[in-house]
Amino acid sequence: MCGIVAYTGYREAYPVLLKGLKRLEYRGYDSAGIALLNNGLNVYKKKGKVTGELEVFVKDKNLSSTIGIGHTRWATHGEPNDVNAHPHYSFNENLAIIHNGIIENYSALKQDLINKGHVFRSETDSEVLIHFIEDIKENSNCSLEEAVRLALHQVVGAYAIVIMSKDHPDTLFAARKGSPLVIGVGKNEYFVASDATPIIEYTNDVVYLDDYEIAVITKNKLSIKTIEDVVTTPYIHTLELELEAIEKNGFEHFMLKEIFEQPKSVHDSMRGRINADGGRLVLGGLREYLNTLTNAKRVVILGCGTSWHAGLVAEYVFEEFARIPVEVEYASEFRYRNPIINEGDVVIAISQSGETADTLAAIELAKSKGAIIFGVCNAVGSSIPRATHAGAYTHAGPEIGVASTKAFTAQVTVLTMMAICVAKAKGTITETLYHELLVELETVPAKIQKILDKHNQIHYISEVFKDAHNFLFLGRGYNFPVALEGALKLKEISYIHAEGYPAAEMKHGPIALIDEEMPVVFIATKDSSYEKIVSNIQEVRARKGRVIAVVTEKDELIQRMAEFVIEVPHIHEALTPLLSVIPLQLLSYYIAVLRGCNVDQPATWRNLSLSSSPRWGTLIGSERIKNKLKSLNRR
Ligand code: G6P
Repeated sequence: MCGIVAYTGYREAYPVLLKGLKRLEYRGYDSAGIALLNNGLNVYKKKGKVTGELEVFVKDKNLSSTIGIGHTRWATHGEPNDVNAHPHYSFNENLAIIHNGIIENYSALKQDLINKGHVFRSETDSEVLIHFIEDIKENSNCSLEEAVRLALHQVVGAYAIVIMSKDHPDTLFAARKGSPLVIGVGKNEYFVASDATPIIEYTNDVVYLDDYEIAVITKNKLSIKTIEDVVTTPYIHTLELELEAIEKNGFEHFMLKEIFEQPKSVHDSMRGRINADGGRLVLGGLREYLNTLTNAKRVVILGCGTSWHAGLVAEYVFEEFARIPVEVEYASEFRYRNPIINEGDVVIAISQSGETADTLAAIELAKSKGAIIFGVCNAVGSSIPRATHAGAYTHAGPEIGVASTKAFTAQVTVLTMMAICVAKAKGTITETLYHELLVELETVPAKIQKILDKHNQIHYISEVFKDAHNFLFLGRGYNFPVALEGALKLKEISYIHAEGYPAAEMKHGPIALIDEEMPVVFIATKDSSYEKIVSNIQEVRARKGRVIAVVTEKDELIQRMAEFVIEVPHIHEALTPLLSVIPLQLLSYYIAVLRGCNVDQPATWRNLSLSSSPRWGTLIGSERIKNKLKSLNRR
């Protein structure tokens, strides 16, 4: 994902942009650039990292300017190189643009401009957009603001843009459709960014630009109009975000920090909502629509990646407790079908970032078919909460690591609370079970901590298996989505091929893969399918597969069967995913680190360093490590 940062005010812009670009690094990128105004409009951009390449490149340049724009690019149109990096100049170099998103009709626009004599330096759609704006400005003899408005009327696709102009030395022009933009409001200064992370150390006051809005920003004035030329009044939100939430605080990676934050983030997801002693469970954001959810004939859950897995857990919980049929859909599939939404259907959209384009598009489609939509989101003020009728924030705090961890447990916590609320309102669970679930939910943070305390043990297992070529993750019931999530985590950050399967399905194909080189992770806690999963473990052992099992504390049977076990505390079966996923997150993390992977920016790392991919050696279990583990397991 590309990143945007821009500044106009009284400070030197360059340090603000540089720090901002570094804060945006977590989004992944392959090149970076800035534009500053001093003796003309100067663009500096480089393939590679902000620290390694861009910072070195600009060292001897005149960087003095109180206005500037900066960008980290994740290549879509054109390979990652210096020329395709942002900012891009307009044809006569009077304007410069940074752009997130994709202009879908760029090639038709480009051809028209080429016919008019424009010459393009890069292969990007973004350069086409700034040429197009300039062309309109010159040919219609209008203001730059008007030219931006007219151009955006003709653009198909998604964008968040910031433009600087030689002729407006203190003004930034920003606009969005489908890609987020946040404006930080300071005293005699404004910041613009693709998310709040570059802004938070300067101000907590922000304005979220809406789709089809254009902002004209000088150091002491912010005016916003729609692309229909209607003036809108900016609404200033106060962010409750601490700077330390977006810093590593001594952890080697954001992902590790976020894994270890889970006792707190799950607690924060429940804070003020649950009180087991008083038998109270309230989700304020749902109150108005609780009847709609209670009377729903069907719930359709939408999400992508890890959020989709949280949706699968929710399917089990809603069906078991609230007795409502649930379908869980990949948002990316749902949006391109002609899905059936009937009266009485309710949609729940799940997203950490609140900005995932497929999930947003699926929401719009469901809305156009008359569905009431609930959102379960982490990023406060993001697009999805604004596009949905009601919802609940997960309150997990910023998730900077690309691989989702604490967002998953927070989503499952909130979705479980939703299901229990509905079940209570419908009378589909007994008072006793209702109380039991509330009491058990309140124990989750401490139980997660207990698992995290055993991180050394999981590190040792990771050392044993770090060179594996493949992994299988198997679970049943509530642990089936956990198996999928474990496999996703591992492949996403370590590039080991991994499959998640319902354990019972193993015999219908994957069993053919099992031999002495295949690690199989069983999520085999003591629940209603325990005996069945024990049989599945035996099937794997019979084929010499190497079994790592996540088990409930004091499980002696699987302890004897598996090569390695990782214990999790006992909890109500429906809440198991909140615990059983933790060892899998740690396993993926440690394996990825041991293989030398960049866990916080996995895709970027792969893109830049294919040649330095880890070599996959043969699977060798070190006796030293195994012995140490056995002693740890016995404790
Ligand atoms: C990316 C991330 C995943 C995440 C997915 C959905 O693919 O790598 O970890 O689950 O996006 O993101 P969302 O913000 O909608 O939950």
